[in-house]
Amino acid sequence: MAKTPLSMTPTGWFQVAWSAEVGVGDVRRMKYFGREMVAWRSAGGQVAVMDAYCEHLGAHLGFGGRVDGDRIVCPFHGWEWDREGRNVCVPYEKHPNRGRRIRSYPVVERNESIWIWHDIDGRPPYFEVPDVFTGFSDGSSAADYYPAFPHSTLYRQQLELHPQYIMENGVDFAHFKYVHKVPIVPTFTRQDFDEPVSYVDFTIAFDETAAEEINSGVRAINAGLGAAVTKSWGMIDNRTLSAVTPVDDMTSDVRFSVWIGRGDEHPNAAAKAQRLAQGVIEQFEADIHIWAHQRYSDPPGLSQKEFQGFKALRRWAQQFYPAL
Ligand code: FES
Ligand SMILES: [Fe+2]
Repeated sequence: MAKTPLSMTPTGWFQVAWSAEVGVGDVRRMKYFGREMVAWRSAGGQVAVMDAYCEHLGAHLGFGGRVDGDRIVCPFHGWEWDREGRNVCVPYEKHPNRGRRIRSYPVVERNESIWIWHDIDGRPPYFEVPDVFTGFSDGSSAADYYPAFPHSTLYRQQLELHPQYIMENGVDFAHFKYVHKVPIVPTFTRQDFDEPVSYVDFTIAFDETAAEEINSGVRAINAGLGAAVTKSWGMIDNRTLSAVTPVDDMTSDVRFSVWIGRGDEHPNAAAKAQRLAQGVIEQFEADIHIWAHQRYSDPPGLSQKEFQGFKALRRWAQQFYPAL
C-alpha cells in the first residue's frame, strides 16, 4: 500500500458513529486517531466520547464498563467518571480523585450522527459541524426527508485512504465521466476556501453541446477534512453526508449517509426512496474504489483547467494539519 505523507491526526470534527448505534446506557468501543476510545450515552440521553482507559489502574472501560445515570463506572474497582472524564466517585474513599481525568472529546450530535472534535493540542472547537438540512438556508428540515440510518448509509472500515482525498473529489470535475460513468459537464460556480468551513457549488449540464442548458447542480459544505454535506437540486432531491475519520497512521473509516426527499407520499414511496439512496451510495462506492488504492500525488500533474481548484483546496487543507 501507499502510506500517505499527509498527517493522519488533523484538527476538526469527525464522525465516530451514527446516533442509533449508541443507545441510552450503551458503551461502545472504538479506535480513532490511534487511541482506544469509548462512546456512551447517559440516562439523560447525552453522548460522551473519551479515551477508553481508566485513570486508576488502566482498565478498558469498553470491556465491562457500565453507565449509571450520568456517569460511567469502571468494571475493575468501581470508580465513577463523568462525561468530561472527571473522577466523581471512588466508592471506598470519602472523596473522588480530583487530580485524574480521562481525556474526553467535545461531542455534537447532528443529522443522526455523532461527531467528536479532535485537536492534537487540545484546542476547543473553532468551527461547527454543518447541518445537512439547515446548512443550506433553504427552509428545509429533517421532516422533509426520509431518515438515512440504517438503510441509506454506507460504512467501510479501515480503508487505506486519507480524508483529504474525499475533499479533493469536490473540485475534480474530470472524474465524473470516468468514475461515475455519467456524461455530465460540471461547471463550478463557487469555490470558496477562505475559512475552515469551505463551499463548493457546481451546476451540471447533461450534454457537452448544450452546456448553457443548466438542468441541475450540487452545493457542498466542507467543514474541515472530516465532514462534507451536499444538497442536490434539479435531480433526485437528496442530501448527503460523507465523513472520513482516521483510525491510525494508515487507515480511515468512511461513513456515508443519504437522505431522499419525501416529495409526494404514495404507498411505495419509502421503498422507492431506499432504492434511490442505493443508487447514490453506489456512485460513492465508485469513488471509494479509487480512493482506497490511490497514492497521494504531490505535486500532482494537473491540467490547466484543474489547477486553480486543486491548488485552492490543498492550500486550505494545510491549516488542519499539526505543525511539525
Ligand atoms: S482501574 Fe478503573 S477503577 Fe480501578
Ligand atoms: Fe465522485
